[in-house]
Amino acid sequence: MLTVSVAVHRGLNLDSRLCHTARRCPPAVQYIAYMNQPDIADVAIREKLGAYEDPYLSQTLAEAKAVESVTLQSGAVSVRLVLGFPCADYVAELKTALQNHLQPLLGQSRLDLTLRAQITAHAVQRTLKPLGNVKNIVAVASGKGGVGKSTTAANLALAWAAQGAKVGLLDADIYGPSQPLMMGLTGAKPLTADGKLTPLLAHGVEVMSIGFMIDQEQPMVWRGPMVTQALTQLLGETNWGELDYLVVDMPPGTGDIQLTLAQRVPVSGAVIVTTPQDIALLDARKGLKMFEKVEVRVLGVVENMSVHVCNQCGHVEHVFGSGGGARMATQYGVQLLGELPLDIRIREDADGGAPTVVSEPGSARAQAYLQMARRTAARLATLNKDYSRAFPKITVEAT
Ligand SMILES: Nc1ncnc2c1ncn2[C@@H]1O[C@H](COP(=O)(O)OP(=O)(O)OP(=O)(O)O)[C@@H](O)[C@H]1O
Ligand SMILES: [Mg+2]
Ligand SMILES: [Zn+2]
Repeated sequence: MLTVSVAVHRGLNLDSRLCHTARRCPPAVQYIAYMNQPDIADVAIREKLGAYEDPYLSQTLAEAKAVESVTLQSGAVSVRLVLGFPCADYVAELKTALQNHLQPLLGQSRLDLTLRAQITAHAVQRTLKPLGNVKNIVAVASGKGGVGKSTTAANLALAWAAQGAKVGLLDADIYGPSQPLMMGLTGAKPLTADGKLTPLLAHGVEVMSIGFMIDQEQPMVWRGPMVTQALTQLLGETNWGELDYLVVDMPPGTGDIQLTLAQRVPVSGAVIVTTPQDIALLDARKGLKMFEKVEVRVLGVVENMSVHVCNQCGHVEHVFGSGGGARMATQYGVQLLGELPLDIRIREDADGGAPTVVSEPGSARAQAYLQMARRTAARLATLNKDYSRAFPKITVEAT
């Protein structure tokens, strides 16, 4: 068995160490040449592995500092990677991609791949402090109402939880809190302990909603400032567990309340949900601008109700036109995080209190959410980290 630390090999020039056989001979011979000289094989595999560009990160594994160890044994190459996003369901897909990428170096050897997620806190607006227990707050917003923001937020939270992360979901939509319904918590009331609210647990996700606090039958009489105060309180005075992500279902639109929230909530990134119609895209652009104004990074755009999938025959149709989300993403230099189908089963799952990711985990619909969640978390992983908790604040006193 041979294990060589990454540091030792970083400085080596691979080419100068390759024998002519390895460079000129056909793949099978090359492989034998490599494997007969284990240290060269190790260097070659490391270099090739490091050069693999992960499609979710849009970074190479070397750039992402993902390679923890490479071990060569007879008949097997064991690779351990650490990724900055939840990856419990990613190993099979990545393994296939790496097997292809590492040929012909791998030859007949088996690839053993182990993934570990290390989710770190990322920077928030400069004027704000991150929220105690919560590593990353991710705002899910939309320029206009009814585009599927709440459905997307619920499935995003559940997808991250399914992928192995510790997740919370805060329903901040004062106009129409729908997470109690979607998460199967209608009528539930959070308990208080030591003057703090205990979030409710649904499908493994901690949930808090402004809907738990207000009587839904009563007309909305709160005015802006009161509402934002109530929300910041709800955020700060909830006893969240140690969370990797807290998904916030924002009120739709780009008015004063939304702007104030975007300024007050310490957010690591925002996701904009839109439908493909021009009018919705126009509003989504306003949402993008709003977050830019308050220096919140937009992780990308989710196009909801992209195509209609008939639940009878499965045939697919672009009812609202195609490619709008992609064009918008290109135009504004943000990522298209996902294109989700318009499918009656998505609505039925959400209305039934168990969104698609948990009620039909094997379906293509759930896969679309899982992919979107992975892309979102990977995008966040490439952004600036929050160093405020790693180092004590240094104050210089004048004497
Ligand atoms: N991809 C989808 N396929 C089918 N139905 C969907 C899809 N996404 C959302 N819906 C349904 O559309 C309706 C609106 O969705 P949702 O409540 O998530 O939107 P919203 O943007 O949060 O709306 P609001 O502005 O009222 O908060 C819901 O009934 C939901 O179940
Ligand atoms: Mg909603
Ligand atoms: Zn049909």
